[in-house]
Amino acid sequence: MSAKVHILNGPNLSRLGTREPAVYGSTTLAELAQLCEGWARGLDLEVTFAQREGEGELVELIHRAGDQADGLILNAAAYTHTSVAVRDAITSISIPVIEVHLSNPAAREPFRRQNLLEDVVYAGIRGFGVDGYRLALEGLAGRLRS
Ligand code: DQA
Repeated sequence: MSAKVHILNGPNLSRLGTREPAVYGSTTLAELAQLCEGWARGLDLEVTFAQREGEGELVELIHRAGDQADGLILNAAAYTHTSVAVRDAITSISIPVIEVHLSNPAAREPFRRQNLLEDVVYAGIRGFGVDGYRLALEGLAGRLRS
């Protein structure tokens, strides 16, 4: 049976494609979802892909991943820098969580250097644009097989 991976995206990532393309690229969220489905098929992973604007909604979907999936790929977007609730949700589940960012937040404004998630996730990938999701899927596939 294929391992199940949930991919979860936080606020403003719904606007990918038109939001600051110089920073985030021109791929839309719908295109990213399709890319992830293709990459996952090639790795024999079953994926679900979601995006939510709200902190509580993200917390609920992190809990759901913990109950239903074998691994979680999370781009918590701005909540990465602010949310104790998202951090606590990650520590409340026992599956590996891979943190992904399209940009490299540490190379941007100083407030993005605060990261409340990096020490409670299994691994992190930053700065590779949408390809970071492929790298996360590959890493997670290897981790889940071992
Ligand atoms: C982001 C980086 C965050 O700092 C920012 O708030 C986002 C997107 C990224 O994917 O590069 O919304 O998570």
